[in-house]
Amino acid sequence: MKYEMVIKNGVIVTASSTYEADLAIHDGKIAAIGKQLTGDTEMDAAGNYVIPGAVDIHVHMQLELPGDLVSSDTFFTGTRAAAFGGTTAIVDFVDPKPNESLINALAARRKLADPQVVIDFGLHMTIGPNEIAKLDQVAAAYQAGCSTFKLYMAYGLRLDDGQLLQALEAIRDTSGLPVIHAENWDAITTLVKKNIQNGNTSPQWHPRSRPAILEGEAAGRVIDLATYLGVPIHIFHVSCEEVVARIKAARYKGLPVSGETCPQYLFLDTDAFDAPGVQGALPVCSPPLRTQTDQAALWQALADDDLQIVTTDHCPFTLAQKEHGWGKDFSQIPGGVPSIEMRLAAVYSRGVREGKLSLNRWVDLCCATPARMAGFEHKGDIAIGYDADLVIFDPNSKVTLSAEFLHENVEWTPYQDIEIHGWPQTTISRGKVIVENGKFMGAPGQGKFVKRKSLKR
Ligand code: URP
Ligand code: ZN
Ligand code: ZN
Repeated sequence: MKYEMVIKNGVIVTASSTYEADLAIHDGKIAAIGKQLTGDTEMDAAGNYVIPGAVDIHVHMQLELPGDLVSSDTFFTGTRAAAFGGTTAIVDFVDPKPNESLINALAARRKLADPQVVIDFGLHMTIGPNEIAKLDQVAAAYQAGCSTFKLYMAYGLRLDDGQLLQALEAIRDTSGLPVIHAENWDAITTLVKKNIQNGNTSPQWHPRSRPAILEGEAAGRVIDLATYLGVPIHIFHVSCEEVVARIKAARYKGLPVSGETCPQYLFLDTDAFDAPGVQGALPVCSPPLRTQTDQAALWQALADDDLQIVTTDHCPFTLAQKEHGWGKDFSQIPGGVPSIEMRLAAVYSRGVREGKLSLNRWVDLCCATPARMAGFEHKGDIAIGYDADLVIFDPNSKVTLSAEFLHENVEWTPYQDIEIHGWPQTTISRGKVIVENGKFMGAPGQGKFVKRKSLKR
């Protein structure tokens, strides 16, 4: 049979195997894997890896914050940057308005995202304090494709412990997966207030007001609540050893707890807040950047399966947006950094090249387990019938990260001048080439909303 497209001579790498083969694509799906396959279009991947498209299940495009702040990547610019970096599926968020039903909020978010996305996407449903009165709608949200539910233990959307218990129970009863921002908000707000009152307003006081032990406490607390209810949970953006220890202990007991970390915690540390002027405000995100000891612990946890995935929490704000908050005090700086484009290659470069992770573990952390955890049924693996979301990855190319090189809609990057060894050469979404040799070939609206469901863990 002659297929629509064949990728020839590459080394196929999945979470579990590495082998040389041709790969055929037909009707947007992986149609055959073998030797000497032929296609209308043939691409030579000799010397390169062919991997499943990367999956990033924690991103914030066009995130609306109080004070008319909106994160600067749109669903178009953010998914285009993702595609340049080899990511072919994301999960963003629905944040319902106070009197809005979960289903209407989902429809409104899709109305914004659908015409813009370049790659496939899903949406987590946020359950904030206003949604406690809407917990009878959780099953409908699950049926509509939101199989994951975001619960905050911080910010204005923070749930108190009673509300957390109610939300976790409702999500459990629909087989959904709660995904948690774990920080001890009462203690943090007290520290923030005290530090500002004492005149300590510079960005260095951001991590000092949100110490690692308070992230660990919150993670431990929500793990205990989830254990009591018998519901699996996933802990978002783990920044420190304290949380790793809690997840590790829970998993050791056989509890269904998982965790992720992000490039900012793997590549940056608290020294970034010492940069002069507004530069020190740019890396403000929550949880904050931590110490080099934490960084080493996170890499080890990824290798040991004490953390299961790498996501980005991609949430860029422009220089002007950061500067505006910085002019007041550290607590007013909008939190979030851009990482969506560099994640896959950066984890390869620092993880695989430097001997911290195996090739298969890299694919597992960035592609396979995020897809399975978020409930993307046909993504994250290279197998017949799976979506032809693929990356031809050149392990020998070298790039230097800079705001000019990257395609995120923001004029700075926290990774300026970091050298990365290995970069995606071609990104394919549902069988269509959307990036080739640094050229964008996709189109807004080409990506599809994927209805997700809980898959076997
Ligand atoms: O500072 C961050 N991480 N901003 C994005 C929202 C969140 O907490 O995930
Ligand atoms: Zn968060
Ligand atoms: Zn986030």
